[in-house]
Amino acid sequence: MSLPQLEDLLPLEGKRVLLRADFNVPLDDGRITDDLRIRSALPTIEWLQGAGATITACSHLGRPKGKPDPEFSMDPVRERLAELAPGVELLENLRFDPGETDDDPDFVARLVEGQDAYVNDAFGAAHRAHASVVGPPRTLPSAAGRLLAREVEVLAGLRESPERPFAAILGGAKVSDKLGVIKALLDAVDVLVIGGGMCFTFLAAQGHGVGDSLFEADQVDACKSLLDDAGDRIRLPHDLVAMGPDEEIRNVGADVDDGWKGLDIGPGTAAEFSEVVNGARAVLWNGPMGVFEWDRFAAGTEGVARAVAACDGFTVIGGGDSAAAIRKLGLARSVSHVSTGGGASLELLEQGDLPGLRALREAAARGAG
Ligand code: 3PG
Repeated sequence: MSLPQLEDLLPLEGKRVLLRADFNVPLDDGRITDDLRIRSALPTIEWLQGAGATITACSHLGRPKGKPDPEFSMDPVRERLAELAPGVELLENLRFDPGETDDDPDFVARLVEGQDAYVNDAFGAAHRAHASVVGPPRTLPSAAGRLLAREVEVLAGLRESPERPFAAILGGAKVSDKLGVIKALLDAVDVLVIGGGMCFTFLAAQGHGVGDSLFEADQVDACKSLLDDAGDRIRLPHDLVAMGPDEEIRNVGADVDDGWKGLDIGPGTAAEFSEVVNGARAVLWNGPMGVFEWDRFAAGTEGVARAVAACDGFTVIGGGDSAAAIRKLGLARSVSHVSTGGGASLELLEQGDLPGLRALREAAARGAG
């Protein structure tokens, strides 16, 4: 998994570097609500500037449909970047051009024109075989930025040689999105804890009633065979918080009645999951345990977040909603690593590689790195 590093690009004095960053930050009415992804690129930017390079940065923002859309203009990012790292040019949203998602050679040619080297620090986009991710390494000397290199070291390290016991906690809405990563993690973990909306398809596979909870009928067989293979290495909730008619809320066991909806793990389960985390030497957490955006169903996610933060083993949060939850609780500093990539971290854990990483290694193998 060794990637070409920034040092491999030296000397850079007076050179122009194209930097692919993931500045896909959350916006509310055109204002950035969390600038972590911009700040995470600073070590690479500062290193490149220290080496004498001039930087042209580029990123996507949101999912515009291949044409300019003022809602996704890079202006707010450009403004924040200028405050944090003066002197960096930032191109307009890459996805304003259909050539980005199509990996169009003409679009790549325009991106690399006038550039002497390419750095990919966009871990959050490294699972996309898009022009700005896989195109420049075909022609330019290329390297991984500091953030990308660290993300890969942590996540590939967990997959390949974790400290033990290694516990993974998975949540989130849909089991169909996570079957691949569950299978891959079962090869690596000692315990796999499952909460969130996806637990109901597993509970149904064990014969429990799920009422009106989130549930994917076409995935029950897949869940059943995972449970058969994994035995007691998979842990499921034994109590739940459910909402019934007239928004009545009750703690229930592992069965949810018709007309009721499970929306969080229960207090007993949160305590049990926290105990698993306490006893682990390596922890990976991806996905909330319930609908944590609503205070009434946030206790399970908060309990797990606090246990991860208190654990003195190596703790990793796999991006997306669980990263948002740990930051909302002010606990991010107590975690060994909070990934900046949601989809990318899951795909790296599942497949062990990503298109953006392959492109960098191929560049290095050709002697372009
Ligand atoms: C993310 O937010 O996970 C990355 O920026 C990738 O965005 P995408 O899912 O729109 O490609």
